[in-house]
Amino acid sequence: MSSVTSDVEAINERKSGTRNERLSAWVEEVAQLCKPDRVYWCDGSREEYQAMLRLMVLTGTAIWLDESKRPNSVLVRSSPGDVARVEDRTFICARTKEEAGPTNNWEDPAKMKQKLQGLYAGAMAGRTLYVIPYSMGPIGSPIANIGVEITDSPYVVANMHTMARVGARVLEVLGSDGDFVRGLHSVGAPLATNQADSTWPNNAQEKYICHFPDTREIWSYGSGYGGNALLGKKCHALRIASVQARDEGWMAEHMLILKLTNPSGRSKYFTGAFPSACGKTNLAMLIPTIPGWKVETIGDDIAWMKFGLDGRLYAINPEYGFFGVAPGTSMKSNPNAMLAATKNSIFTNCAMTADGDVWWEQMTAEKPAELVDWLRRPWTPASARKAAHPNARFTAPASQCPVIAPEWEDPKGVPIDAILFGGRRSGVVPLVTESFSWQHGTFLGATASSETTAAATGQVGQLRRDPMAMLPFCGYNMGDYFAHYLKIGARPGAKLPKIFYVNWFRTDDQGKFLWPGYGENSRVLKWAFERCEGTAHAVDTPIGRLPRPADLDTSGLGIPEDRLRQLLDVDVDGWLAEIPLIREHFDKFGTHLPEGLNRELEDLDKRLRVSISRVGKVSRFGKVSPLGKRETLPPDK
Ligand code: GTP
Ligand code: SPV
Ligand code: MN
Repeated sequence: MSSVTSDVEAINERKSGTRNERLSAWVEEVAQLCKPDRVYWCDGSREEYQAMLRLMVLTGTAIWLDESKRPNSVLVRSSPGDVARVEDRTFICARTKEEAGPTNNWEDPAKMKQKLQGLYAGAMAGRTLYVIPYSMGPIGSPIANIGVEITDSPYVVANMHTMARVGARVLEVLGSDGDFVRGLHSVGAPLATNQADSTWPNNAQEKYICHFPDTREIWSYGSGYGGNALLGKKCHALRIASVQARDEGWMAEHMLILKLTNPSGRSKYFTGAFPSACGKTNLAMLIPTIPGWKVETIGDDIAWMKFGLDGRLYAINPEYGFFGVAPGTSMKSNPNAMLAATKNSIFTNCAMTADGDVWWEQMTAEKPAELVDWLRRPWTPASARKAAHPNARFTAPASQCPVIAPEWEDPKGVPIDAILFGGRRSGVVPLVTESFSWQHGTFLGATASSETTAAATGQVGQLRRDPMAMLPFCGYNMGDYFAHYLKIGARPGAKLPKIFYVNWFRTDDQGKFLWPGYGENSRVLKWAFERCEGTAHAVDTPIGRLPRPADLDTSGLGIPEDRLRQLLDVDVDGWLAEIPLIREHFDKFGTHLPEGLNRELEDLDKRLRVSISRVGKVSRFGKVSPLGKRETLPPDK
């Protein structure tokens, strides 16, 4: 018997070990419906992780990378039709369409369940049903939350081991009557007797990523990729958790968490909400270019924040690892991410080098002479296509990040001093703006917009509103979500973080980035830090408080003065053109839009008009910036 077979045999014998009858009954019910060959309860052990890797290698899903270059790591290539989140197949099945709101797909819960039950019937034939008990957040933390994912994908089991705290310890905390979020996942590819498996089983015809907020359930069918399948992440920690947070008075956000320390050793904690593939992982672990400053990582994608007794918001990172965008990541742009993924990592849809390592676009200054691309075809620099898929990812344990903060697993979380909102905007939005108030900051977040990226299927580069980077992740009516923000801000005794709006992605006429970004973003972090301390200068403008060029530490940056002015310019015409578009965006929410946001819009409009009547069409730093293509948003759907 090969060692792989004996691993699988050992797997078959594992018993549940849970005293929770609702959990056992649910697993039994799902097994009856999905008809797997066997049921396996995950214990979260290292041996189990290794067995999953070996199983994936045996079935051709994964390939070992060279042990001397990338110890204990594999490369997985998905099928070309299953490479990213599928927003058009994602549903919030609240009781009513109104509860899901205008930005979510909705279906009646009973109808959707009936449809999915049809698809799930026998869907796991020939496969193993894995039960993954997981904790989002340090096990036992008052901010943490338990979920159980049932899946028929060993790839999901292995990734969940890295992305969440998994196994027996979670069952102990769950006890005999603990509550948990139920996540059911199937790749939707049953195997007939003697049918050979594909290397990336999934369902090419039908995919559904469904959420039932009222019963805290997730039903995912047909995809094996990322956020579609690793249900602890976007489905639980954002879509379901945002509903729990609304009901219980806390916040579940698509935010990185970082610790920033100044040269005198004082630290502050920032969160940052940028849409998918817009720089969270990079900011969370950046290496400051300004001497004496230090950034350490708490989390790179999701923050759960609850009020402490002192009235401050405390954040935990509910995750345990990084599922990071590979392309663009290099020892130059993000060495800490590169170092986190040197071993014990899973690479998905990257290219493979001749010597058994991975490669992706911009990983090295020089392209390798030959590769096998993510579609397993030979590739050379002369090939007219990308070697790695633009949404290729690495799964790496957070504990392997060289700058992970010592307190990243502190069960009480870290007190947040500032929240950054942002997105990809080639024009109009300045490098950084500080809000006048919590309500104004909520307005900045609620109106944020960004160009779409490869993190979701569909067209890339389309400008759309992405409020608080939560457009694809809010589990209820986004108008009510805005109201929840204002309610948080109105809590008696609350000591709220300052709110900033940043944009690293402004471009010139040629489409080149005006701001160098990455480590240089530390200059903006420093200004925000010192604004929190009350030591940095800012000017009130119609759109918020901005640094003058002299207020930013640009020592050693070598950026031309006029470029800096452009980055910090208030583009009055551009903002005036946004007003009707923001109104249209707000109108979609009807009576769910909180009045405070309407008031912010009216006030912005007034301030802009007053500034024009005072100085003509001249902005604060001179003429309206010659941004060339003045991008404005297309009208909302
Ligand atoms: P998700 O994991 O999808 O939520 O993405 P993310 O928000 O963590 O984005 P990430 O940090 O992985 O960055 C995505 C892409 O943006 C990468 O290709 C980066 O190289 C690029 N990027 C990140 N920060 C900057 C920056 O400051 N400037 C520029 N120009 N590009 C950046
Ligand atoms: C994102 O798309 O925001 C991600 C990747 O972080 S996924 O896990 O696929 O959602
Ligand atoms: Mn993300």
